[in-house]
Amino acid sequence: MKAPIHSAADVPALAARLRAGGLVAFPTETVYGLGADAGNADAVLAIYETKGRPRFNPLIVHVADLDMARRFAAFSPLAERLATLWPGPLTLVLPRLPDAQLSDLVTAGLDTVGIRIPNHPLALALIREAGRPLAAPSANPSGKLSPTTAEQVVQGLGTRVPVLDGGAAESGVESTILKVSGDEVTQLRAGAFARADIEALLGHRILVAAANAEISAPGMLASHYAPEATLRLDAAQPSADEAWLGFGNCPGAALNLSASGDLREAARNLFAMLHDLDRTAKRIAVAPIPHHGLGEAINDRLARAAAPRG
Ligand code: TXA
Ligand code: MG
Repeated sequence: MKAPIHSAADVPALAARLRAGGLVAFPTETVYGLGADAGNADAVLAIYETKGRPRFNPLIVHVADLDMARRFAAFSPLAERLATLWPGPLTLVLPRLPDAQLSDLVTAGLDTVGIRIPNHPLALALIREAGRPLAAPSANPSGKLSPTTAEQVVQGLGTRVPVLDGGAAESGVESTILKVSGDEVTQLRAGAFARADIEALLGHRILVAAANAEISAPGMLASHYAPEATLRLDAAQPSADEAWLGFGNCPGAALNLSASGDLREAARNLFAMLHDLDRTAKRIAVAPIPHHGLGEAINDRLARAAAPRG
């Protein structure tokens, strides 16, 4: 698969690439997404590496239909009503099902999942053919503009990632993100789906997260994963009352993110191990993690998890 830009005829080959853990950029009605199998941690990590994204934000899971969505999220009657707006530029943040086959890196350790059915025939064809939910942020290098054409994807990411060409994206603005909890609906990010149309469907106003919490500081969302335990970072040694989360050679560590010092392995283990230790320990000491490569994202998440809560 050499030429970076592909047409509908290549959907089966691109779907096979996704099933094998590869990345594929694909069109949606909002912007082009950089997609990976949401159940494959290594594939999801490749998204971060390819974008040069310095922190682990939760990613939106793209599915082809409501049946597929129900495998990952719990739909309350309120969520069911909002889902009648699919397919479309609307992401619903819903409780993640405990047995959902999703990498922890997709949900960034949260017990919720952001999910949507994109309104683009090629996106839907690709997801169906792959038979997998696709985690996908916008297909641009971190900090750059979101791409609305296949050519822009190639300009930004180069020729490493094949792009399914679906023409110019209709809206150029990312999806509107709504969090549904209990009987409350909160807009976390304004986007391509007008709030007025959502309110018209529901017959009442919805809450709006302060100052677009999503855009200004995605990792600072009130719901971002923070352990109950106290975290101490850069801990070359644990004290007696601490459980030590190791990295590299850490004899006596309660758990080790990667005994061999592999940052990919550490990233894969990060949220699951924090959860595990949080169940048993009041204090967690985390070994120093080098700051290069995926270490930047790991350290960003750890710093946020360790920050005092207000
Ligand atoms: O239009 C779009 O939504 C595009 C296309 C490709 O679908 N995707 C997109 O993804 O904009 P991204 O990664 O730029 O934005 C995803 C944002 C995250 O930054 C996060 O704030 C929010 O969605 N999000 C995802 N899952 C969440 C969750 N469980 N809880 C809170 N926020 C979540
Ligand atoms: Mg983006």
